[in-house]
Amino acid sequence: MDHTSQITPPGGFISRPVKSISGELTVPGDKSISHRALLLSAICEGHSNLRGFLDSDDCLATMNALRSMGVHITLESTDVRIIGVGPKGLTAPTESLDLGNAGTAMRLLAGMLSAQSFDSVLTGDESLKTRPMKRVTEPLGQMGALIDTVEGLPPLSIQGGQNLRGIDYTLPIASAQVKSALLIAGLWANGRTTVRSPGISRDHTERMLATMGVNLLKGSGQDVSLDGPVVIKARDHVIPGDFSSAAFFIVAGLLAARKGLLIRNVGMNPTRTGLLTILRKMGGSIDVINRREFGTEPVADLLVRKSKLQGIKVEPNLVPLAIDEFPVLFVAAACADGFTTVTGAQELRYKESDRLHVMSEGLRELGIKTKETVDGIVIVGGSLRGGCVDSHGDHRVAMSFAVAGIASQDIVQVKRTDEVSTSFPNFLSLANSSGLAIEAYVTTESLKG
Ligand code: S3P
Repeated sequence: MDHTSQITPPGGFISRPVKSISGELTVPGDKSISHRALLLSAICEGHSNLRGFLDSDDCLATMNALRSMGVHITLESTDVRIIGVGPKGLTAPTESLDLGNAGTAMRLLAGMLSAQSFDSVLTGDESLKTRPMKRVTEPLGQMGALIDTVEGLPPLSIQGGQNLRGIDYTLPIASAQVKSALLIAGLWANGRTTVRSPGISRDHTERMLATMGVNLLKGSGQDVSLDGPVVIKARDHVIPGDFSSAAFFIVAGLLAARKGLLIRNVGMNPTRTGLLTILRKMGGSIDVINRREFGTEPVADLLVRKSKLQGIKVEPNLVPLAIDEFPVLFVAAACADGFTTVTGAQELRYKESDRLHVMSEGLRELGIKTKETVDGIVIVGGSLRGGCVDSHGDHRVAMSFAVAGIASQDIVQVKRTDEVSTSFPNFLSLANSSGLAIEAYVTTESLKG
């Protein structure tokens, strides 16, 4: 596929205020589901076809890692064909596996590679090297895995040839990545692997495993178990659009779609749609239409209309259901009347950037009063005046501030936007075709680099 018109050029964005946006768009495939479909299909015996795959840098990092371990994968547009190698068929990579910016790839692969007969090293870019890995290496260690980290951070050096055993593990915080890493490791472990969770996290791994022949046992609350070792069966997967990518257009629509903006093909897994609940409580007009099933996942189209938003207290129990959408929610809060208060969201400090800090700093640059707390933020809705903000190389922060430009009095310049291609390679073209006015610029520094 020719991506030259879609890849975000190195540098930054200039986002200009616009009066109105409208029309319809289709968001690209879900990142979490694309990673999982690749990883799980690779260890089946037999062929799998994926439709609607997200060919973003993060998912391509997972694909390349699997190719380095002998898995034959072809990609054409958003269609992927994988020839699974079976549970014992992965081969030792000749080099470290570089996962770029992809935290999900690193944590899920840690689970998978802990159970292999060969050694491996998982590394990534400067941002990924600052992200906490003990949360996954510690429970995997309890299963018998041998993983070295650099004081809890990547690279992860995994020693192969271990016999894993099932454990009963309670996650200290709800995390889909850790839960998934343990369940994936559990496919090779002897005995029952149980993951207990203090809250809801996305359940794509469980849905997928269940359709691949795994008997998942659901306990009380968020507990889930599987009995290993178990061989999973190849099947085809249809991947819905990514709710987290749709989120930028949902907020953009609430700020400027006087005649409505239709967002098609949006994954509506209830573990992902907390933002809808929050924005509706703020007064947002979002209609969910044409609900349907895409394989194991619910999908719908969303019709969003410009709305007068009101600040609210966000219930902490909604935080895990909207975990990746907070940067753009903060932009909506900046444009709402009154105070928006978020608590129970300390996890936002451990994402691709410290999202509480980076968003708070950026919104202040744009003239909005904010107060950062240990586990949240208070945002006083007001008038965005425009200015220059730094995304700190965080894709979701970059796109959120690009959306903020719509409703600003003057242009918003967003620095360091290259990472947008990790999750949403065609963000710019979709945004501009809906009436946003975002231009990419190239810095001389990035040209040198
Ligand atoms: C993801 C889970 C979430 C989310 C991340 C993707 C996944 O993290 O923030 O972007 O695909 O499993 P948690 O592990 O904190 O739930």
